[in-house]
Amino acid sequence: MPYSLRFALLLVALSIVAAIASGIVIYGQDYAQTRTTAEQLTLGHVDAGKTAIGRYGCGACHKIPGIRGAVGEVGPSLAGIATRSEIAGVLVNDPPNLIRWLRHPQQIVPGNGMPDQGITDREARDIAAYLYTVRR
Ligand code: HEC
Repeated sequence: MPYSLRFALLLVALSIVAAIASGIVIYGQDYAQTRTTAEQLTLGHVDAGKTAIGRYGCGACHKIPGIRGAVGEVGPSLAGIATRSEIAGVLVNDPPNLIRWLRHPQQIVPGNGMPDQGITDREARDIAAYLYTVRR
């Protein structure tokens, strides 16, 4: 292979590596920003929310991206919950309403399939923080 061709291939390879690396950095910054915003909106903690979702077994009834084993089909999938306009079709999707829904779904839609589980305000804020990172 002529030297110039080898050099050109090397440049192509290097630019592909650089493109992938900057993609990873941009994705990481985007996710970090999403997390920060979610925590500011809810005054909760994303990681604690993830743990609480596991503890309460939400995944038995919901598909929840990012939660291992959360493949339930009793309730709606929570994919993209961060960008939806309504909660359960009856509440505007904003942080106070999501927190209220998580704590008292039976007060909001009596008889619906999601039980009141005795979730505390703190836990609901954490869970809401996690859910507001679920944009897809
Ligand atoms: C026993 C099944 C069950 C469990 C457990 C459960 N849910 Fe639900 N959930 C439902 C059902 C059914 C609905 C739909 C209610 C409606 O639309 O009236 C729902 C609705 C929701 C909604 C609104 C979704 C939308 O598309 O508007 C969110 C958010 C939610 N659940 C989060 C959770 C979280 C977080 C947990 C764990 C703390 C949880 N759920 C536990 C059954 C469940």
